[in-house]
This record gives sequence, C-alpha cells and structure tokens, in this order.
Amino acid sequence: MKGVILAGGTGTRLHPLTRLINKHLLPVGKQPMVSYAIERLRQAGITDILIVIGKQSAGLYTDYLGGGEALGVSLTYKIQENAGGIAEALELAKNYIAPGERFVVLLGDNLFLDDLGPYVREFMKQPSGSARVLLKPVDDPRRYGVPVFDEKNNALIAYIEEKPEQPKSEYCVTGIYMYDDEVFDIIGGITPSSRGELEITDVNNVYASQGRLEYNVLQKWWGDAGTFESLEEAHQQMKGELP
Ligand code: G1P
Repeated sequence: MKGVILAGGTGTRLHPLTRLINKHLLPVGKQPMVSYAIERLRQAGITDILIVIGKQSAGLYTDYLGGGEALGVSLTYKIQENAGGIAEALELAKNYIAPGERFVVLLGDNLFLDDLGPYVREFMKQPSGSARVLLKPVDDPRRYGVPVFDEKNNALIAYIEEKPEQPKSEYCVTGIYMYDDEVFDIIGGITPSSRGELEITDVNNVYASQGRLEYNVLQKWWGDAGTFESLEEAHQQMKGELP
C-alpha cells in the first residue's frame, strides 16, 4: 500500500506568508506542516509516499525532507504545473500506483490526531474498485464537502455536496481518501467544475452513486490549516505530536 500527499496549491487565504513559502511548509508546532502527513502514513505502516508539490518552494521540500530516510519513509516527488484542483493533482500519481494497488491520499493541510491504521485495515477488507473517506463533525459544514448518508444502508454515503448553503448533515468529508488504481479512470471521466477545477467531490460522487463509498468518523481532533485561524489552532493541537 502506498501514500500520496497533495501539497501544491497557492494558499491564497494565507497571504502574505504563502507568497514567501508554500503553505505545506509553514511551521506547525516544531515542524513544517507536511511532516505530520508523512508521520500519519508512516504510523499506519505506509512508507512509500509520493508528494505532489507546486513549482514554488520545490527546493525547500527536498532540502528539508530529502528522500525521507530520516523520517523512516521513501519519498518520491512530482510537480503539479497548474492549479487545476485536487483531482487533477491526484491524477499525477497515476504512474506511481501499480495496477490493482490500493493507496491513501492525504491533503497536506489536513492535520489530525487519529492513527489511520484501523481505518486502512477496514479499507483493505472492501471489494476492489471501492473507496473510503473519513468524516468529522464540524461547526460549519458549509465550508466543506458534506456527506448525505444512504437511507437503506448507513455504512454507505449516498452523495456528497461540496460547500452546500444548507448542509444535510453535520459532517465534513475530510481530505483523507482511500482508493485503488480505478480512481484514475474515474478522474479521466469527470469535467471541470464552475470554478474550472477537477473536484475530488465529483470523483467521490461516482463511487457514491454506485454504492461503493464507505466511511469512518475520526475520533480525535481534525482541522484543515488553510486559514490563519485554523493554522493557529493546528499549532496548539499538534505541538506535542512530533519532536
Ligand atoms: C477540499 C474538498 C472538500 C473537503 C476539504 C477538506 O476543500 O473540496 O470536500 O471537505 O478539502 O479539507 P478545499 O479546502 O479545497 O476548499
């Protein structure tokens, strides 16, 4: 099993800091943000990891992380040239994932305290060609992808609404996704949204519409550190997590 960390993007909500340095290298506790995603994968036994980065700060990633040896992992890098959305960034992992292979995707700005191991083990029991997402109850679901559960089988998500004005549940679909290589066929079949991006929610909705999208709910703290407020909260939550 492999891991893919998506760490590109422009981080406009964190300007001016992200004019200097890519968002995922900003300090959280004693480490750059991206270190926590690597550690969560390593903790779950996933040591082959692809990091998709932008052109900005590319040298800083390799300066700091190198090949990953000091962190107990093997890192591969891929550059995302355009800001074409999460699913477009994910498509860059296509040649990294072998036919039939399963993998975990983490958005690099999602910080969390749960160990992924138990969720990954549940995913391994699912049939091939299915997917799993991790959810978290949040105060304001309107900022996120929001799941609507299948009325007949509550182990499944019926569909996800991206940033709905009137959310139908209190849950957010976090940036933690589990797929196998079939996801690349699905990405190939979706079209850009009104904001011109290939949306991960559109990908997940293909699985959901076919009854192939399962989930767990994270038990501990989760946040996405995309704003100054959430970055500050992440500092407080994560400061004891890595040396
Ligand atoms: C993205 C996804 C959204 C998800 C969120 C989690 O949103 O589109 O479904 O809930 O990540 O961090 P973005 O932060 O790109 O607006």
